[in-house]
Amino acid sequence: MTLLIGITLILHFIGLASLLGGVLVQVKDTIAGQGRVVAAMIHGALTQLVTGVLLVGFIQMAGGDINNTKIAVKLAIVLIITVLVFLFRKKRPVESWVVWLIGLLTLANIAIAVLWR
Ligand code: HEM
Repeated sequence: MTLLIGITLILHFIGLASLLGGVLVQVKDTIAGQGRVVAAMIHGALTQLVTGVLLVGFIQMAGGDINNTKIAVKLAIVLIITVLVFLFRKKRPVESWVVWLIGLLTLANIAIAVLWR
């Protein structure tokens, strides 16, 4: 079970890299008003959703502690990100606030994951 949790956490980091990486490669274009929602953001958001839920299940099965309030907040944030990437995935260019908000919410979830103990 420890290995399963570890592998799922690695996939959780890959999803984070995809989501945040997608935002970072769009910074220059977004500043110029030409940003867009890229596939890496969509795949990253979905990966975070799936691996996050799996992590909760695996950790609970292993008898580990889960902070339910923290997970509820992370889940709510990732759902907003998922709605945003799907709503705006075909808009070219997308309104700049969409890319900034996706980035901000991603950073918020990283801060919550690391700082909320
Ligand atoms: C943008 C979305 C997300 C980001 C950026 C993110 C980020 C992170 C990071 C950086 C860690 C490692 C923290 C550490 O081990 O110190 C982590 C762990 C974890 N994440 Fe996420 N996460 C996201 C979404 C979710 C969602 C939606 C869930 C559950 C529904 C979730 C559940 C977990 C769990 C269970 C852990 C294991 C450690 C813990 O209990 O905090 N995550 N996440």
